[in-house]
Amino acid sequence: MQKMVVNGGVKLEGEVVTGGAKNAALPILFSTLLADGEHVFHNVPDLMDIKSTRDLLESFGCETSFTDNTLKVVVRPLKTFVADYDLVRKMRASIVCLGPLLARHKQAKVSLPGGCAIGSRPINFHLNAMEQLGATCEVTSGYVVAKTEGLKGTQIIFDMPSVGATQNVLMAAVLAEGTTIIENAAKEPEIVDLANYLVKMGAKVKGAGTSIITVVGVESLSAAEHRIIPDRIEAGTLLIAGAITRGSVTVKKCNPKDLEALISKMRDCGFSIETGDDFISVNQTKTWRAVDITTAPHPGFPTDLQAQFMALMLEAEGSSIISETIFENRFMHVQELLRLNADISKKAKVCVVRGKQGQLTGAPVMATDLRASACLILAGLVAKGETNVNRIYHLDRGYEKLENKLTKLGASIKRI
Ligand code: UD1
Repeated sequence: MQKMVVNGGVKLEGEVVTGGAKNAALPILFSTLLADGEHVFHNVPDLMDIKSTRDLLESFGCETSFTDNTLKVVVRPLKTFVADYDLVRKMRASIVCLGPLLARHKQAKVSLPGGCAIGSRPINFHLNAMEQLGATCEVTSGYVVAKTEGLKGTQIIFDMPSVGATQNVLMAAVLAEGTTIIENAAKEPEIVDLANYLVKMGAKVKGAGTSIITVVGVESLSAAEHRIIPDRIEAGTLLIAGAITRGSVTVKKCNPKDLEALISKMRDCGFSIETGDDFISVNQTKTWRAVDITTAPHPGFPTDLQAQFMALMLEAEGSSIISETIFENRFMHVQELLRLNADISKKAKVCVVRGKQGQLTGAPVMATDLRASACLILAGLVAKGETNVNRIYHLDRGYEKLENKLTKLGASIKRI
């Protein structure tokens, strides 16, 4: 099993380029099921989750090819509407194939994704919404078996904004008869990117990026070409890498508007941050104040950057209160950070992080989920001595060659 060996204490300097957004690419790749033909996507990150998505699309009968971050999907009449357990269990986001399969083929059998390290992650919003659109969804033998005579547009009000459920409903509604209004919709940039691709295919979608999305169903869609938006979580992670090492790093080809919550908190800490249309720079800051964060749906502070921000707070002056409101068990990194000599108390969904410059010391640690892996690497970049981050396969699900990007900035990190 591979691990990452990080030697702390090197100030990162230079420029680094952001890759395409995993969480935008995944639903967009599943949206190809809505139209036959050749779909072409640029700026697709080369990640395990993309491989898992291709495997699932191929299991339905699609052809895929991937070169230099351009991914082509050729969709022909499908040979099955079953998303098998062995493929779905590798990636929870597979559940968003339900909407497009139902919309276009009136049937789907999708394995229940199950829980994961960060929480139970139910799919009740997805299933309730499909039923409201006129499908029946039964859960039998670990599979969601869904059928419809034809989806019909309706009003759907989510209890809370769910990224995946909003994507699933969007993809179902574009081919439904009549108008669907999604209220309390998720507003993440990845939703907007999906809507933009659906519109390129011929869909009628308005309001993506706000809490009310209106979709007027059309008869059919056609394959199109699209460039995936930059990955705001990767960009944020690289920015924190520059900050935590007291370096000067410019993260290029990103969208600073998608990272306003992080940038504003980092400025509150006292970091000198500059932004342009497509870059963010952090300039060498020796000491910074602790600030509190509470994760929230976009445009609030992203849960996907909570672990990385916690690493930054370990080197701050003072105590930071970090509250996680999205997932019930997203503090798995705390136990591992304690191994690096961090001073953190945790109670339910709140952590108190007592920062102190130079307190971290290297140790062997274990990555428990994707963003926790990034947090441990960030902590390793400032810890004295060597940090070995085990179970690095979590990192490969969501970061494209992170160690190469960090090495280019001067970090001492290698995969073994
Ligand atoms: C997506 C992201 C993930 C991010 C999360 C929150 C992808 C592939 N993943 O996950 O990286 O951390 O958004 O920004 O884009 N919920 C229910 N019932 C449901 C659906 C969700 O109770 O049917 C709850 C979840 O348990 C969670 C909250 O809603 O507490 C938000 O989850 P959701 O936005 O759906 O997250 P994902 O789409 O799974």
